[in-house]
Amino acid sequence: MKIGILTGGGDCPGLNAVIRAVVRKGIFHHKDEFVGFLEGWRGVMEDHSTKLTLDSIAGILPRGGTILRTSRTNPAKKEGGIQQCLDTLTRHKIDSLVVLGGDDTQSVTYKLDQAGFKVVGIPKTIDNDLSGTDFCFGFDTAVNIATEAIDRVHTTAEAHNRVIVVEVMGRDSGWIAIYSGIAGGADVILIPERPFDLNEVAETIRQRHARGRYFSVVVIAVAEKGKKDEFGHVRLGGVGTIIAQELEKRTGFETRAVVLGHIQRGGSPTAFDRMLATRYGIGGIDAVHRHDFGKMVALRGTDIVTIPLKEALSRTRTVGQDLIDVAMGLREPVNKSV
Ligand code: F6P
Repeated sequence: MKIGILTGGGDCPGLNAVIRAVVRKGIFHHKDEFVGFLEGWRGVMEDHSTKLTLDSIAGILPRGGTILRTSRTNPAKKEGGIQQCLDTLTRHKIDSLVVLGGDDTQSVTYKLDQAGFKVVGIPKTIDNDLSGTDFCFGFDTAVNIATEAIDRVHTTAEAHNRVIVVEVMGRDSGWIAIYSGIAGGADVILIPERPFDLNEVAETIRQRHARGRYFSVVVIAVAEKGKKDEFGHVRLGGVGTIIAQELEKRTGFETRAVVLGHIQRGGSPTAFDRMLATRYGIGGIDAVHRHDFGKMVALRGTDIVTIPLKEALSRTRTVGQDLIDVAMGLREPVNKSV
């Protein structure tokens, strides 16, 4: 078969591991041919591609980023954009397209499916917010980076009697914040799933310091601000700095903010993400050869399965009450006179 591949949306450690798995199994076991479209949907719309061979994918397993590069181009937002994609795919005689992306990228995959093209989606996002799958690759790497940062922030906060607010990514969900916050032993974790009162947060910190602890670490998930991208998302960031200023005002304790930003998305994937990405890649090429189209590969428990793309796009997967209870169970309750 002649198979197209693209990576869309924000990059994420493990994308290259997926590409490698798809191409190796396709070439070794099915004698497939591969066309890599460059820079996400932009490459399909504007017909920019490269041939993917065993040579071009050699050595990419541990590499961060994506050899196909990526963009947040949304063909559905351009006049005739979806048709342009279909025309390119027809011109290249592509039998099916494997799309690595999060909810935005997969919403376009679904549009091509609805137009009758044979597609398979593979879930990617450090935010871990795609429904229908238990974990997205890239998330574990981001959590490990954030946890290490929280560990480092701990020692400097302790040395200076400071409060340090660590801002992590997540868009509308607090997965990275809650995992890294619990794993890193943060004193307060603030996520979009659980609205908070800043006076209560300040009191939690005051109480902790009154108990003789003279420093605190707060982890917060980003909040939206600024200019929109083609999928209608505003740029994120900056909330950590605002919260740090407010906490300093309310507690009187010296406070600093650290924004981890794109550091969480860069570099080599963890072994867990290499494994998950490889299993997703094999699941993707297997789905193509089973003619299981219009689906997204997903992890359910320990099994790799396929689910309808529509199910994966139905909602944003947010942090559940079970994990919120873990975080709250570790936090000292505030004195109710506040
Ligand atoms: O969706 C992944 C993500 O890393 C979000 O967590 C973050 O808010 C956003 O992408 C950042 O986007 P950009 O790379 O365009 O700055």
